[in-house]
Parts: sequence; C-alpha cells; structure tokens
Amino acid sequence: MDRDREETLGASTASSAGRASGHKQATDTAENINAMLLLRRCHSLTGFGPLNTQRHQVAPAVRSCAVRLWSSSSSDDQRSYQGTHGPSWRHGLAGLLAGTGAVLAYGFHQHKAERAESRVQTIEKTSSLPVYSQEEVTKHRSLEDGVWVTYKGGVYDITKFVAMHPGGDKILLAAGGALEPFWALYAVHNQEHVLEILSEYKVGELSAEDQKKQQALKSSDPYSSDPERHPVLRINNLKPFNAEPPPEILSDSYITPSAIFFKRNHLPVPQVDPASYQLHVEGLPGGELMLSLEDLKTRFPKHTITATLQCAGNRRSEMNKVKQVKGLNWGIAAISNATWSGAKLRDVLLAAGYGPDVAKWARHVQFEGLDKDVTGTTYGASIPLNKAVSEEGDVLLAYEMNGEELPADHGFPVRVVVPGTVGARNVKWLGKIIVSAEESSSHWQQNDYKGFSPGTDWDTVDFKSAPAIQELPIQSAITTPADGVVVDRSAEELTVKGYAWSGGGREVVRVDVSLDGGKTWQVAQLRTSDKGRAPEPSPPPGRAWAWKLWELTAPLPPEAQELEIVCKAVDNSYNMQPDTVPPIWNLRGVLSNAWHRVKVKIREDKDEE
Ligand code: MTE
Repeated sequence: MDRDREETLGASTASSAGRASGHKQATDTAENINAMLLLRRCHSLTGFGPLNTQRHQVAPAVRSCAVRLWSSSSSDDQRSYQGTHGPSWRHGLAGLLAGTGAVLAYGFHQHKAERAESRVQTIEKTSSLPVYSQEEVTKHRSLEDGVWVTYKGGVYDITKFVAMHPGGDKILLAAGGALEPFWALYAVHNQEHVLEILSEYKVGELSAEDQKKQQALKSSDPYSSDPERHPVLRINNLKPFNAEPPPEILSDSYITPSAIFFKRNHLPVPQVDPASYQLHVEGLPGGELMLSLEDLKTRFPKHTITATLQCAGNRRSEMNKVKQVKGLNWGIAAISNATWSGAKLRDVLLAAGYGPDVAKWARHVQFEGLDKDVTGTTYGASIPLNKAVSEEGDVLLAYEMNGEELPADHGFPVRVVVPGTVGARNVKWLGKIIVSAEESSSHWQQNDYKGFSPGTDWDTVDFKSAPAIQELPIQSAITTPADGVVVDRSAEELTVKGYAWSGGGREVVRVDVSLDGGKTWQVAQLRTSDKGRAPEPSPPPGRAWAWKLWELTAPLPPEAQELEIVCKAVDNSYNMQPDTVPPIWNLRGVLSNAWHRVKVKIREDKDEE
C-alpha cells in the first residue's frame, strides 16, 4: 500500500494544497507562543468551562500582546483601540492566534479606527464597479502586480493594506484567490467589523460564471462541512483536521475542555443525523442487531469513566529531530483527558447474543466509522475480544464527553472509548461493530500504528511482522516551562508542571524531575483533579484510565545559567521511560516516550550583572 496513504487516505487531491498551507500555518501558530501563553490567562474568550475566569483582568494583557506582535501603530492608536473597541479585542485575538487570519482580522480591525470616515464614502461606490474574471484576479499575487483577493463575489485590491501592515505579507497566501478558506479556518465567529473594513478595498465584482465555479468547488470540498474549531489549537494538518492544544494550557485542567482536546481525523467529519442514526452489531448468533441512539441511551445502563486518549504519534516531533520520520509532526499535546459516558460495549454485545460459545472462535471486535474516503472506504480498527467483553475493561460506546453530547470532531453521535488503549482504536462516528475471528482489515490496523526497530527502514519494513499497537507504554512530559524560556534569577524558584499516563490501566505512581539533565532527581507532586477540588477516588487496580498531572517547585540552582529540565514517570508495574530517543526511534514516529527534556535560561538580575 502506498505509504502516503497512512495519514490522509482518501483525502482528495485538493487536500494536498490544504495540507501544505496547514503546515505553513502550523509554523505560524507555533511562532506565536507568547500569544498562546497570554490566552491561558484569558479563557473568557473561549467560554470553556473551568478555565472561564477573570475576563476583565486579563483583557489588557491580551490587548498589549496583540499590539506588540502585529501592530505598527502608534501608542495613540493603541489607546483608541483599547478605548473604543473594548469588547472587540476578542475578535482580534481570535485571529491573532492563527497566522494569516490573524493578520487579516487584527490588521483590518486596527485599520478600522484609522479609516472610519473614508469607509462610509467607499461603501457607496460598490454598485458601479467593473466585473473581473478569476483569471484576471489570479494575475495579482504580489506587491508588484498588486494583491487581489475575492470574497463572496467581490474583488478586493488589498495591496496598500499589505504594504502598510507588518506581517501583512502572510496575506499573500490568499493572494489571487478566495479569502473564504482562510477565514473559515482562522477568523472565528463575528467578523462583521473586518468585512466592513475590507469593503474599503473593493475594486470590482467577480464574474457570475467564476462565482458559480467557486461555489461548485466549495461544495465539492469534502471538508466543507467540518465543524468550526477553536483558534487556540495548533494545527498540524488542516484537511483532514489534526490539531493539539498549546502544552501550557493542557496541564491547566485535569479534565481537558472538549474545545481544546486534541483532534485527530483521517477523513472529513461525517454529518450524522442523530434521529436516523443506527448502530449495526454483527457477527453474533442472534443475527444483526440495530440500535438507534435512543436505544443506546435507554436500553443499557449509562456508565461514566474518566479516560485519557493519546495518539500513537504523540511527541513524534522529538523523533523527527533524531532522523526524519513519516507522519504529522505532533508535539507533546496529542493527548488529553475527558469524562466519557455511554453504554458498555460488553452490555451491547451480550444483548446481541455474545456468550461462551462465541468466545470459542471470536478473537477481535472490529469497529467501522461513518467517515469515508472517496472510494467509500471507512475508518476502521479493532481491539482484542477479551478487552471488549471484560467487565473491568470499561469499553464504552460513548455518547457524551465532559457531560455534553459528543462534539462533531470527537465522534458525534457515538464513539468507542477503549480506555488504556491507543487513540487509533477509539473509533469515532461509530457505524458498525463486528465480532470476528480476525482483526480489522483496515489500513490503520494492518499497515499503520505499529512499532518497528530503529534499524527498520521503508525499504525493509514488513507491516505484517509487527502487532498492531493496543495498550500504550508509560508516558510523561513537561508542559511548563516551555523550551527556551528565560527565567529571572530573582524568581528564586521554579515551578515545573506536566502530565503522566500509562496504558492498559496501569497507574502512574511517581514522576521524577531533574533540573540538571538527569544527574539529580526530585519527586513531583501528583494530582488527579483541578486545584481546589477533591481528588478523584483511587481507581481499582488495573483500571487507572486517566492521567495524573504533576508539579514540582524547586529553588533555582545557585550557579546554573541554563537548566536542562527532565521528567520521567513510573507506573505500578515499575515500567519507566527510556532516557533517550535514538533507541526507540522508528520510521513512523510512534510510541515516542523518552524522558522529556526542556531547556531554560536563567537571567541574572540586572544590578548584580
Ligand atoms: N475514528 C474515526 N472514525 N476516524 C478517525 O480518523 N482517528 C483515530 C481515533 N478514531 C479516527 C477515529 C485516531 S488516530 C485517534 S488518535 C483518535 O481517534 C483521536 O480522537 P480525538 O480526535 O477525539 O482526540
């Protein structure tokens, strides 16, 4: 099978362009770490649960960050921005977090105050504007030739805008084409003010014929109905959508808010009508069982578990630093923790006729998603039968995440949650369950998500020779401080935070932290709830499905100018993480769980220098 299929099987050719721009944009967002950090303190703009605090206190900080990052305006402009556009800072920030859209949204927003008067005049002149073909628009893709874009049938010459705004060159990504895909991506929610200002730059109308073509293109984009996503997410790939939260906010909540929970899609998000949804259960003596969403909710007891999901490719970027691997360049946050509620898979299988006779021949339970590639192939995976039917396995057919119906990106209306097992087997948008003697024949079970020796390369790899990843190994990572930050000596002490988790229900019992690259170690404090809340009850042995957050505050070593902070976790089987990446490097960059290391510099106080 073509290796390229592993990440984007079935993604239309159009998606490669999206992919390219996705990578670019991911880089852009990564560069904006300061903005991310500020966002931690201003969750009010997100409206997500436990983080939703202190809106009024943080707004000024966000505004000043926005201004520092992208504005060339004078301090007077800043004052007028703050003064006259109080509540709208949120829109600027929403865009600010995301590269191109950020420049557009924030820049246009700034520009509003400067050009309010002329806008009134220019809006009126729209009726008598010339008609341009797409071909003519496409000729304007640089400052020399002019920068033109289209939006909803209008043609806009934004050359002056680009020239005037630092960072405006990023808009060149959209030059000669439609703005919609960029704004659909970045500029979330209310963009009215941005559009008003855009109208100043209107120079014509797009020909009716080309408008129709654009429309057709849009409707043929299989990703056009994907849901809106939170702009704080760092996009690793746009179509299909793959994104992780900034690590610093990951460890701020024990339960990850759904909006920032990492998202890992191989295909477009399917549109599923909950009223007509049917789950097919096949392979059992009772014949095929069909269950509606209502059946799942009413015929079976509802169970709730707290479970961490982790993608097999979490921390792949560290393997990439050793030697290039194939796959999305995940950082340390392709992992999140949520509560999941639904029917137990065991109960559903029993209702469908599972019994001791079936156990004699069946070995696997296969799952098929409702998401399809262009050939109609669905996402699929399987888990061992004993995990599926075990009372202690806690495998759920979940219809709720964090107390609400599943979000579209996380499998609405029903997904499998296989706690302790690699994310890939937690099939979303579940359409079919098949009890079988065989594993799923899907690409993702057979030819992906498998581990190999560091000596295996793409010329020698035999995917059949390795088992599919199921339970994941022990893992931990440092979420704060971020790599490369500078700490003031006057702070005297340093707080290090992170997460730790192990697969197969093995409980994390200890996290060791070193500030000197692993020479000396201190034991971190573990927690299983948000601060101020009662810790979760201790899980029964073998059923520790949720991560532990950890924290260590230690004095800054007196002489050191740079610290290499390292963490490693231990689970209750005394499994530990390997110390370096090279011995576990593998061509797909999966199972990356070496000691996590970040470096920080210590800045001596000025008067002591
Ligand atoms: N299920 C379907 N139907 N389609 C998918 O693309 N991705 C899998 C799994 N289930 C996937 C799926 C992978 S690789 C992971 S890591 C998890 O979903 C991610 O779950 P999340 O997006 O809810 O975080």
